[in-house]
Amino acid sequence: MSLELKGITKKFNTLVANDQINLKVEKGEIHAILGENGAGKSTLMNIVYGLLEADSGTILVDGKQVAIKEPSDALNFGIGMVHQHFMLVPVFTVAENIVLGHEQSKRGILTLDEAKKKIQSIANEFKFDINPDSLIEDLPVGVQQRVEIIRALMYDAKVLILDEPTAVLTPQETDELLNIMRALKAKGTAIIFITHKLREVKAVADKITVIRLGKVVGVASPSSSQEELASMMVGREVDLIPDKPEVKTGKTILAVKDLSIFNTVGRKIVNNISLEIRAGEILAIAGVQGNGQSELARALVNLEDHVTGSIKINDEEILKKSVRDSLRAGIAFIPESRELDGLIGSFSIAENLILDTHDLEPVAKRGQINKEYVRENAIKLVKEFDVRTQSIFDTSSSLSGGNKQKVVLARELSRNVELVIASQPTRGLDVGSIEFVYQRLMAERAANRAVLLISSELDEVSALADRIAVIYRGEIVGIVSPDISREKLGLMMAGIN
Ligand SMILES: Nc1ncnc2c1ncn2[C@@H]1O[C@H](COP(=O)(O)OP(=O)(O)O)[C@@H](O)[C@H]1O
Ligand SMILES: [Mg+2]
Repeated sequence: MSLELKGITKKFNTLVANDQINLKVEKGEIHAILGENGAGKSTLMNIVYGLLEADSGTILVDGKQVAIKEPSDALNFGIGMVHQHFMLVPVFTVAENIVLGHEQSKRGILTLDEAKKKIQSIANEFKFDINPDSLIEDLPVGVQQRVEIIRALMYDAKVLILDEPTAVLTPQETDELLNIMRALKAKGTAIIFITHKLREVKAVADKITVIRLGKVVGVASPSSSQEELASMMVGREVDLIPDKPEVKTGKTILAVKDLSIFNTVGRKIVNNISLEIRAGEILAIAGVQGNGQSELARALVNLEDHVTGSIKINDEEILKKSVRDSLRAGIAFIPESRELDGLIGSFSIAENLILDTHDLEPVAKRGQINKEYVRENAIKLVKEFDVRTQSIFDTSSSLSGGNKQKVVLARELSRNVELVIASQPTRGLDVGSIEFVYQRLMAERAANRAVLLISSELDEVSALADRIAVIYRGEIVGIVSPDISREKLGLMMAGIN
């Protein structure tokens, strides 16, 4: 089956989210839609899936115009969708969720037993290891996604829409998903693959449509270089491999010795890690999510409770200090979760920019916050860090992911520090913001600060690091040079040496 969109336009008040979009997807084709956050990709797909109504334009299935007013219409035309934010009920089982979804379609009620049989047969076909009786909340994200895929396939989807499916996956899970996509394609299923990740597009797409600010700006082939794709997407030249000029490293800033971290029930999450970082050096900790790196980052600023060993900044022991004193010993901390540990959502951008320093000169004078200073500081940092906002008095929760991250960077990097800890600093960001974060981290290196980068992105680690420490099951299994091949690094991250 083929799916064609003609002249799709959708406005939200004055904002034109989709502007005369034309697109044709053929049977058995993997068609990537590439675009930055906010480009209008989800809006377009929600229109195709019947969750939103277009202001104008038509949808054609096999050349015939169709009306898609709700998801059940889409399902009946053979269009399935896996959403950016999963739509599963966490306290229900796999099979229950699938039966629940089925009630919306016009194909009659499915019993739980029928559902289980069908789930099993689809799971077998694609070699998914899924128990239909598992509770959704007990499943890793990657498996939940497969449940969503199975749900779409239960209705014999001929066109499957995957909206940013890899945003939440580990490198391994991502590779597995790409293989599933290839298997679906081989069966004749068309896939609309929405993403802003260039490597993935190049790996699986047959055709690439690039969207910017609601408009189709071009069609590219998977043989285009990452740079070409990135600049089409962003509308200017983008450099994701920053220059790494020689920096003469200085004294040891961070020295971690025999650090172990235990969780609340006493299980060892990090086992006897020792490492050092010098001034002017970026050390990356590469690892698949869940191997102790998140806890390690938090432990270095004393956000973890059960830690043994030693953490020295400039020869000063900081283990067991308060978080605030750790930061004041000279650490900038860019946490993995901007929302939880980085910002106070209900506070303004200006207030978030002084969170660590609100009681210090020059922010405070004689116990009073200097409002004028706070305002000027915010205006200056918003400009320097290119935070896109209407007003510095807007709440930080109103910002997009990339802009939130820039606020965190602005606050942390504008303090007088010697060590920068950046935990998954580009997760969920679009290419333009990623480039910005890379530039800022390289600037920290050039300014002779020590940088600890914690990342699951192989490309990021290779592009930025001077040395790469690979973490696996809470241990550093090797320290390697950034020239190591992607394959070798990937294997080390999987615990294979
Ligand atoms: N329900 C909505 N109301 C108002 N604006 C919206 C709504 N949904 C999306 N937008 C805006 O439309 C634009 C496109 O959003 P979206 O389609 O989600 O982009 P993408 O999926 O490419 O990141 C963005 O500027 C977004 O803020
Ligand atoms: Mg989206």
